[in-house]
Amino acid sequence: MSEHTLPQVGILMGSDSDWPVMQQAARMFKEFGIAWEARVLSAHRTPDEALDYAAMASERGLKAIIAGAGGAAHLAGVLAAKTLLPVLGVPMQTKSLGGEDSLYSMVQMPKGIPVATFAIGEAGAANAALFVIAMLANEDAELRQKLAEFRQAQSAKVLAIKLPELD
Ligand code: RP5
Repeated sequence: MSEHTLPQVGILMGSDSDWPVMQQAARMFKEFGIAWEARVLSAHRTPDEALDYAAMASERGLKAIIAGAGGAAHLAGVLAAKTLLPVLGVPMQTKSLGGEDSLYSMVQMPKGIPVATFAIGEAGAANAALFVIAMLANEDAELRQKLAEFRQAQSAKVLAIKLPELD
């Protein structure tokens, strides 16, 4: 976590059991040199604190909030209701319904309060961070260059793949 710079992005999650997945977002921000903060705040276990966080987020200088939650997964929607900042949701995999519960809950925000919903699990967490990076890169040429290099490196890795010969 960046200690010396004000965080630009908040990574929230409903439980510390979400952290192994949500840390994929944090790792991506670390790679791009973007200051972030992470908090465990729940829409049902700590509703007042979750609402306060969202209400203060813009004033504190955050540019976006990424929220990971599983099951009923209402955290992202609740946060979005209390801030004008973009809120990105990452559905967590669940034991009972595999994360489809989280996905459907998160993605089905009624008209008027959007939550940009990503894939279930680690890919969703990493892509939510990359999406925030793309938004920030609109106003930051250096970051845009880093994002271009990230994409080039990714492409080069794929193009370098040599499939094994047949037996
Ligand atoms: C949600 O309930 C959390 O986001 C988590 O994904 C899920 C289970 O939480 P724990 O019971 O592991 O704390 O609020």
